[in-house]
This record gives sequence, C-alpha cells and structure tokens, in this order.
Amino acid sequence: MKKLEVFGATRLKGQIKISGSKNASLPILAATLLSNKKISLANLPRVKDIETMLLLLKSLGSIIEKNKKITTIKNNKQVKTFASYGLVKTMRAGILVLGPLLAKFGKAKVSLPGGCAIGTRPINIHLKALSKLGVKFKIIQGYVHANAPKGLIGANIRFPKISVGATENLIIASCLAKGKTVLSNCAIEPEIKDLVNFLNKMGCKVKWISKRTIKIIGKAKPNALSYQVMPDRIEAGTYLIAAALTEGKLKILGIDPQIINTEIKVLKKIGAKIIIKKKEIIIEGNKKIKNINIKTSPYPGFPTDLQAQMMVLLCKANKKSYIKEEIFENRFMHVSELNRMGAKIFTSGNKAIIEGNIKFQAAELMATDLRASVSLILAALASKGKSVINRIYHLDRGYEDIEKKLKKVGAKIKRVN
Ligand code: UD1
Repeated sequence: MKKLEVFGATRLKGQIKISGSKNASLPILAATLLSNKKISLANLPRVKDIETMLLLLKSLGSIIEKNKKITTIKNNKQVKTFASYGLVKTMRAGILVLGPLLAKFGKAKVSLPGGCAIGTRPINIHLKALSKLGVKFKIIQGYVHANAPKGLIGANIRFPKISVGATENLIIASCLAKGKTVLSNCAIEPEIKDLVNFLNKMGCKVKWISKRTIKIIGKAKPNALSYQVMPDRIEAGTYLIAAALTEGKLKILGIDPQIINTEIKVLKKIGAKIIIKKKEIIIEGNKKIKNINIKTSPYPGFPTDLQAQMMVLLCKANKKSYIKEEIFENRFMHVSELNRMGAKIFTSGNKAIIEGNIKFQAAELMATDLRASVSLILAALASKGKSVINRIYHLDRGYEDIEKKLKKVGAKIKRVN
C-alpha cells in the first residue's frame, strides 16, 4: 500500500495554482445525465472521486472521452438506470445520480451509500424530498428502488435541514419535472451556484428567488454546451492554512477570494498577513498565532471540510482554542493521530479543546478520511524529522497533484510503496 514520507520542518514559499473543484464537478457530472447532447467540461480535477463518478456514468451508458484538459460526455438514448454498490460505496456522491435518472426515465435502482468514517450520512432528506415530486421508494437489500409512475411533478419543498447533496439532487431532478418546483432552506455553497450556472447554460430554468430559495421551471430541453468548473475552495483553504502553519509565504492562484471570505477572516484573526487580489491571495504566516474559537456550519459558515486542517494550525496558537463540529457527528478521527504527534486535543461529543504552543513531533501515522489525511500532512510539514503517512488512498480521492504542488513550494515529500 502506498505511503507518504514527509521530512519537516519546512517553510512553504512560492505559488500554488488551485485545481478544479471536486465537489462542484461531482453534481455537474451527475447532471449531464439529463441531456442527450454533447457536453464538454473543462477543469475537472484529476482525482479518484471524479474517476469513480466517470466510471459510474459509463456504467449507466454515457460515452466519455477525455483529452488532457476537456472531458466530453454524451448519452445514448438507452442509458441504464442501475448504480451498483461497487461504485457508490467508495464515493457517497454516487447518490447524486438518483435525481437525474428519475427525472429522465421515471425509475432508478441506486445502491445506498452507507455510512463512512465521518458519520452515518443518511439520505433520508433526499428521499423524502424526491417523494414530494411523486417518487415511490422501496429499500431492498441495500438498494433504493425508485419509481415515478406518472413522471416527476413539480412541488413546493422545504428541506428540514440544510443538505448540500439533497439540494443538488432535487435541483437536478426538478429540471425535467412537470411544472414549477420551489425548494426552500437550500444549501447555498458556491458549488451549488456552479451547478445552477451549469444547468442554466444547458437550457434549464433555475432561479434563486431568495437567499435559500430556488425556483425551477421543469420540462427543460437540455442543449449541448461547454462549461468550465469552478476552482476548489477547500484546496485553496488547505494551502492557506499550510502557509500560516509553516510561517511560510504562498501566493494562491486561480481562486476567487470572495468565496472563501470566512476562511480569510479567520486566518487574519489568528495573525496571518493576507493580501487579496482579483483571482489570487497572498498569505504570509506569522510566528505568533492567536487562539480562536470556531464552529463549523453550512456556507457561508466555516466549512467542516477545513476543520481538521484548522485544528492543526490551532495547536500552534498562543492559547487554548475551541472547535465545535456542527455538521458531522464523528469528524474528529484525526485527533488521536495528532495527539500521537504531541498535540493536546481533548474531545467531548462534537466539541474539541485544543491546547496551544505545541511542537509537533514526526511520527508514523494512519489517514482515516480525506480531510483528516491532509491535516496529517500539514502536521508533518510542521514537525522536525520524518513522518510516514499510511492509507493515503483517501487523499487521492480529493487533492490533485498534492505532492507535486507541495514540492514546488519547498516541501520534502515523497510517495513510497
Ligand atoms: C457535501 C460535501 C462534503 C461536505 C458536506 C458538508 C460533496 C460531494 N460533499 O456532502 O465534502 O463535507 O457537503 O458541507 O459535495 N444529512 C441527513 N440526511 C440526508 C442528508 C444529509 O441527515 O439525507 C445530514 C448529514 O449526515 C450531515 C448534514 O446533513 O450531518 C449535512 O450533510 P450534507 O450537506 O448532505 O453533506 P453531503 O452532501 O453528503
């Protein structure tokens, strides 16, 4: 199994170009199922989750061609409607094909994604909302068997809780439903705005009518299009934190600073110097890091996908900090590994107390999920000596060229078998 060796401590210096957003690409790829016309996508990141989604689309009958920068997708008329456990289990976003398949064919059989390391991650909100569009469900042997005998019919739906995936599934499905759908209490992550832009360019009629409310006029006739996926804000946030942690200086290129305004404010509060330009951010880490209390919440709050990375940084703060994880119930898997590196983090339920002034020690480590993996790399960059990070397949699900990018800014990092 592949591992990463990291030799610290290193001050990161130079520039990093941000890749396309994984979490925007996944629903956009699912939404291509709505169309039979040719769709060309630029800026899909080369990461495992995108490969898995492309395999899933292929298994449904999509014809996919890739050249270096552009991926084209074309659906035949007879796309299949079965998404297997083998493909959905490795990547929860597989459930995003449920909405478009139902919208186009009135039926689908999709594997339940199951739990994952960071929590149980149910899909009850997706299913309940789809049932309001006229879908009937049965769960049989780990699969959702869904049918909409009369086709999807537009409805007014209020999500009981903000869910990124459920908002995406419902927006996509409603594009082909009969009549008007109004979705309220929607997630408003920038990736959802990107999905809406994509759908509108494809000929769908999706409109934000208030901050968390979307109106969709159904029965769209999707046209061919070329689309460039937005940059990855979580990747950008990760490298900003890396610079602050290592007292480095990084120029982060190709990101709209406005979409990570919350993260920038937090980094400024803890003492990093930040200069914002139109499509780039320059960050310089400060020797002194101030403590801060953070809670994760839906956008525009602080993202749960940066919680682990931020926790590493707060180990270096001048005093105790607190983090409250409000999105996932079990997202502190990185804590025990960080404590093995000398951190003093105490958790109780969804709260963590992080003692400051920690000098990390290099160690052999085990990655447990995507963002936990990257947090261990960050801690290893700040530790003197050689750290070894095992189970890095999690990392490859979501960070394009991470070793290459880090090496370019001075990290000593190497992949070994
Ligand atoms: C997406 C992101 C993930 C990010 C998360 C929260 C993608 C591919 N993944 O995941 O990186 O960490 O948003 O920003 O974009 N919930 C239910 N029932 C449901 C659906 C969700 O109870 O049917 C709960 C979840 O367990 C969680 C919360 O709602 O506690 C938010 O989850 P959700 O926003 O749906 O996350 P994902 O779309 O799975």
